[in-house]
Amino acid sequence: MAIQSIQDVNLTGKRVLVRCDFNVPLKDGAVSDDSRIVAALPTIQHLMEQGARVVLCSHLGRPKGERKEEFSLAPVAASLAGKLRRPVFLLSDCIGPDVERAVDALSDGDVALLENVRFHAGETDNDPAFAAELAKLADAYVNDAFGTAHRAHASTAGVAAHLSPCVCGLLIEKELAYLGEKTASPERPFTVILGGAKVSDKIKVIDSLLEKADTIIIGGAMAYTFALAEGRKVGESLSEPDHIPTAQAALDKAAAKGVKFLLPLDNLAVKDLDFGAGTVGDSQYFEGNIEDGWEGVDIGPKSIELFKAEVAAAKTVLWNGPMGIFEIDACNKGTFAVAETIAQSDGTSIIGGGDSVKAIKMSGHSDNVTFMSTGGGASLEFLEGKTLPGIAALDQK
Ligand code: 3PG
Repeated sequence: MAIQSIQDVNLTGKRVLVRCDFNVPLKDGAVSDDSRIVAALPTIQHLMEQGARVVLCSHLGRPKGERKEEFSLAPVAASLAGKLRRPVFLLSDCIGPDVERAVDALSDGDVALLENVRFHAGETDNDPAFAAELAKLADAYVNDAFGTAHRAHASTAGVAAHLSPCVCGLLIEKELAYLGEKTASPERPFTVILGGAKVSDKIKVIDSLLEKADTIIIGGAMAYTFALAEGRKVGESLSEPDHIPTAQAALDKAAAKGVKFLLPLDNLAVKDLDFGAGTVGDSQYFEGNIEDGWEGVDIGPKSIELFKAEVAAAKTVLWNGPMGIFEIDACNKGTFAVAETIAQSDGTSIIGGGDSVKAIKMSGHSDNVTFMSTGGGASLEFLEGKTLPGIAALDQK
C-alpha cells in the first residue's frame, strides 16, 4: 500500500498538524538523546520552506491522561528551536480556545509545538471528540511519528478522519523505504541478524523474515531457546522452555525454505551476573553445551567469526536485537563486533530500531550504517508484517 507523502501535496499557507515522535529521553530537564528530533527536521524544514503554518504535536512518556510537568515538551521545544535556528512556540496545551487562538496567530512558515497530547486521556483512548478538538487546529494532517505508528491513538490515527489531505512526512517515507521496500526486494544475499531476550517476542519477525532473507543469524538470549530445541544444554541461561516448539518450527521452516539459519557456536558464560552493579563474577567460554551453574551472556569468538563472514558477504543486512548483555563491558564483545562488521559492510545496512540502535551508538559505529530506524515497538510490528494504524490512516496514492 503506497501512501501519499508531503512531497505529493502543496501545503503553502495551510495550518498543518504534524504528529512527531518526540518521545525522547530526558536528563536533568534536557533532552539527552536528540535522534528523534533530528530525524523530524527534514519534514519540519520542508513545511517551513513551503510556507505552511506548522503545528507540531507529540507524546512524551506515559502521563496517563494527567498534566504532569515532568512530561512537558518544553525541553523538546528548546532543542528544536536550537536546531531550526527559529523560535518554536510551545503552547500551554494541545486543545482548547487559547491554543486555537495561538495557532490562528501563526504566520506562514512559523512553527508551534502543542503540549504533550497524553496529558488528555482522549489521546490514548482514541476518543473521537478529542480527535475532533485536535483537528480544529489544522487544515491538513502529516504523520511523521514512525515510532508511534503502531498506536491507534487520537493524534496518530483518529484525527485523520477529520482532515484532508492526510499524508506522511519524510521520516515515515524513509522508514517504509528501508524497513519495507529494501527488505521486500533486497539486493542479495540478504542477511538478517536477530537478537534480544525472548523467542516469543521475535517469533513473528523471524517468521516474516524467513520469507525474505537468505540467511538468518540468531544471537542474544533467544538463541538459548533454539539451543534447547537442538537438544543442547544452556545451564542457567535465560531461555523459554515453553517455546521450544516455537523455535523448532522456525528451524523446520528455515530448512524447508532453504534459508541458512545460524546459531552461536560458542558463548561467554558467567557465574554471578549483577546487572545493576555491572559485574559478572567468573567467566568462561563454552562451545556447544553450557554447564550447569553458568549463565550465557554473549556470543563467543567462534560465533563472532562465523557471523562476521556472513555479514561481510551480504549485500543487504538488517539487524534487530543485541547478541548479549551489551550494557555491561564484560559482555559487549559480540554485539560490538557485529556492529563493527555491519558498519564496515559495503552493502545496505539497516538497523531495525530499539536496543540495536543503542548498541551501535555505544559501539561508536553509528555513522557508518545506511539507515537506523527511530522505532522500537513500531519497527518490530512493521517487520512482523503488521499494518500500523498510524500509516493505515493516511491517504493512499
Ligand atoms: C516509543 O518510544 O516506542 C514510542 O514513542 C511509543 O511510546 P509508547 O510505548 O509509550 O506508546
